[in-house]
Amino acid sequence: MKITVRVWRQPGPDAEGKMVSYPVEDVSEHMSFLEMLDVLNERLTLAGEDPIAFDADCREGICGMCGVVINGVAHGRANSPVPTTTCQLHMRSFSDGDVIDIEPWRADPFPVIKDLVVDRGAFDRIVAAGGFISANTGAAPDAHAMPVPKADADHAFDAATCIGCGACVAACPNGSAMLFTAAKVTHLGLLPQGQPERKSRVIGMVEQHDAEGFGNCTNIGECTAVCPKGIPLETISRLNRDLLGAMLRPGS
Ligand code: SF4
Ligand code: FES
Repeated sequence: MKITVRVWRQPGPDAEGKMVSYPVEDVSEHMSFLEMLDVLNERLTLAGEDPIAFDADCREGICGMCGVVINGVAHGRANSPVPTTTCQLHMRSFSDGDVIDIEPWRADPFPVIKDLVVDRGAFDRIVAAGGFISANTGAAPDAHAMPVPKADADHAFDAATCIGCGACVAACPNGSAMLFTAAKVTHLGLLPQGQPERKSRVIGMVEQHDAEGFGNCTNIGECTAVCPKGIPLETISRLNRDLLGAMLRPGS
């Protein structure tokens, strides 16, 4: 395939950015989207030009490092009803002659560092505000020492699959990070180990969410539509129930 990509180029955090067009030839349908960018970057490097900066690590859909807006959709749209990560998007989802727009996540709390790379430190600070349990370390406890109802274990595991990619924020018209925050609150709040700090956790994490400048959730659902891990909107309802309970009965 021969395609054209129009990429957001921004030399630094305070520099002006603009879309720049590049033709890419000899694109195989078996390439991943990031491999297509690798090919383009190799050509730019050989020509003495600055390669396009983008984030990636595992390239297996598990680390949450990658993430760009492709043709207006966070992580792009694959030939599949299931949302995916940018690294798991393949060029077979595009056609010969396509013009593809590639932009960074657009949200004030995710400032652009360079080109397609944004600073997602705001997510780290939300987790640091409560996304943990305080426990003495030591030998691993026996597997049956703390029984967990199967339904709770399943819901907790589903929430824990959030990889912190930030697509939910990029897709939300309000720039809300409530789906991410709710996933982190829920996976601990459903387990026995998460009970002692349950109330301080939800209050602390939501306060940090707001302090970072993320918007409020108004139940639009764009977040869950692009979430590569299928975190459902009801996770936010769980967070709201937890938050209300913690505010009405603090400390109990
Ligand atoms: S909730 Fe989904 S879209 Fe948001 S950070 Fe987690 S995995 Fe990514
Ligand atoms: S590079 Fe790890 S999820 Fe995409």
